[in-house]
Amino acid sequence: MQSGENTYISSGEIERILMSQEEIDETTDRIAAEIDRDFKNYDGKVIILGILKGSVVFMGDIMRKLTIPVEIDFMKVSSYSGTLSGGRINIVLDLNRADLSESTIIIIEDIIDSGRTLSYLTEYLRINGAADVKTCTLLDKPSRREVDFTPDYVGREIPDEFVVGYGLDYCEKYRTLPFVGILSRSVYEK
Ligand code: IMP
Ligand code: MG
Repeated sequence: MQSGENTYISSGEIERILMSQEEIDETTDRIAAEIDRDFKNYDGKVIILGILKGSVVFMGDIMRKLTIPVEIDFMKVSSYSGTLSGGRINIVLDLNRADLSESTIIIIEDIIDSGRTLSYLTEYLRINGAADVKTCTLLDKPSRREVDFTPDYVGREIPDEFVVGYGLDYCEKYRTLPFVGILSRSVYEK
């Protein structure tokens, strides 16, 4: 099925496709090549750390496109409900590793909005002894920043729209869409 025929598009829930499957494929090729280039001569351990649940699809693509050896891990944080950020970050699932002193952690995130999640996690992992912490996001909404934060690897900057698909949700819906689409305002402005 072509993504344009998706039922969420014909129902009007998705206003339009922001990032097609083809663009996602090109973007994940580019990011994996950047990470490969930056770490091919690194003699420590590289851990790619997916932030559940939004990053799982992106993480799956990136990890299969990397050629350098990496380990994978996951953390889960919560702060969002619906389309509103709660501000406070809670760690729901922690990273349980004894020693991070020889490891560079590359955090894989779906999207950066206020910047609070990634700035908190970067600091948290540094305090917990990681040799270095890098950040990688598929999407970035720089106009929404509340804390100063610049990611190391970025798929694409996007305007201030609420987007779903390719792992991203609204109230746990739409994560399985193979593209990123703008959620129609009529879905959440009631
Ligand atoms: P931040 O801490 O404000 O940067 O928020 C980042 C988190 O907010 C992401 O991991 C997402 O879970 C969520 N988020 C922000 N914008 C969107 C969006 O447009 N669609 C879906 N989730 C979003
Ligand atoms: Mg998230």
